[in-house]
Amino acid sequence: MLKNHNNNPQFNIDKFYKNYLSGPRIFKNRDALESSYIPRELPHRDTQIKNIAEKTACALLGDTPPSFLCYGMTGTGKTATIRYVSQKLAQQNSKIKPWWIYINCNVVSTPYRILAHIYNTISRKEKIPPTGLPKDIIFKKLLGLLDSRVGNSICFLVLDEIDILVDKKGGNEILYDLTRLNENLDNSKTSIIGISNKLKFRENLDPRIISSLGEEHIVFPSYDASELRDILIERAKITFQDGVLKEEVIPLCAALAAKENGDARKALQLLRKAGELAERDQNKIVTAKHVEKAQGDLENDHIMEYIKGMPLQAQLIIASIYLISRFSPDYVIISGDIYDVHSEIRGLIPGVRQLTKRRISDYINELSLAGIISAEVKSMGHYGRTKIIKFDIGMELIENVLSKIDKIHGIMNYKPVFLQTDKVKLKNNIFKKLI
Ligand SMILES: Nc1ncnc2c1ncn2[C@@H]1O[C@H](COP(=O)(O)OP(=O)(O)OP(=O)(O)O)[C@@H](O)[C@H]1O
Ligand SMILES: [Mg+2]
Repeated sequence: MLKNHNNNPQFNIDKFYKNYLSGPRIFKNRDALESSYIPRELPHRDTQIKNIAEKTACALLGDTPPSFLCYGMTGTGKTATIRYVSQKLAQQNSKIKPWWIYINCNVVSTPYRILAHIYNTISRKEKIPPTGLPKDIIFKKLLGLLDSRVGNSICFLVLDEIDILVDKKGGNEILYDLTRLNENLDNSKTSIIGISNKLKFRENLDPRIISSLGEEHIVFPSYDASELRDILIERAKITFQDGVLKEEVIPLCAALAAKENGDARKALQLLRKAGELAERDQNKIVTAKHVEKAQGDLENDHIMEYIKGMPLQAQLIIASIYLISRFSPDYVIISGDIYDVHSEIRGLIPGVRQLTKRRISDYINELSLAGIISAEVKSMGHYGRTKIIKFDIGMELIENVLSKIDKIHGIMNYKPVFLQTDKVKLKNNIFKKLI
């Protein structure tokens, strides 16, 4: 049999699949935990569903519904509720069938592309190129298309994550134009539904837009643990095989997500990950242990994403601390050490500037606030005060994320000069010791 360099037998993929297929079944329908899945029922969203249904019902008679905004923290079911209501509205037995155009402003991210997206969705063809046409031309074309295709019906324009559009250059302007579409339409009518999890974004809105989006908005309060439990119980019935969840699993997922602002997405992610961990270990039952492990894994994913999204200089500060800790685990790290190591490693990466001590200190504060490091201020007597710096998260995780950053990958084995026994640093120059 072939051996790999560790002398361990190679991973046997055929055996793995065979075991997988003959192993215990945890999931019945894993897709029901996907974010795109629209549940048949939305527990604890009755008030919001009723409110939106009342506002949109007149579209079934061909009248123009008011535009409105939906607010609430992340994971409070805003997108799911709008999608749910739009599905229900489409299923009604009415002569007039409203149109729904859903736009996630985080994905379709420029005013131009939003207009092009609306046009191309209605025309069902990629008629407007991704760039190039003047805005007033697209508007004219769009008005013509709405009147001819949508006819005497209503077109709902759902602008999800609308705050991202408002913060963009030209965002307010296009929003204003969209709220004014009806004034220039002969047959059809439009209605805007804005969704946001930034409660303060209205402050950046042009007052004329606020008045056309309606003073009234629909609030999605965060879920408490018992509401999250109900949501998970309903979802688990369709997702998991009967009897595979130990009774503590759902309350634990609900309690952990309730602590994080009552985010239903988090609760569902935890449940899914716990199920996958049980499946991976070929366990028949999902237990609290799987949930705890899932929580740790999700937190790590979160930290990794956070570090990956940081500016390179901040990542180099983390790399400096990592390199010192790696080559001398017991060494007590102070800010000056980080300054030295940073200036050594930034010299190994083309185009990276030297930072001042002050900037390094700012980055240290930021990393400490983010919970990645702890920086304890210690008095050094006559020498003043300094910060003692340590990682607050595991070295393995740090190593994992740093090695995935292209520019840092190549310096992961760099040993800082002050830890190299044969070198000495004098006035920022590195010399080889003669004795
Ligand atoms: N009441 C509910 N019943 C069943 N599932 C729900 C409920 N509320 C939210 N969910 C589920 O939780 C997840 C997050 O919900 P959703 O995407 O609607 O949140 P959101 O408020 O739009 O969040 P964000 O502001 O981050 O976009 C989705 O998978 C959704 O199906
Ligand atoms: Mg959403």
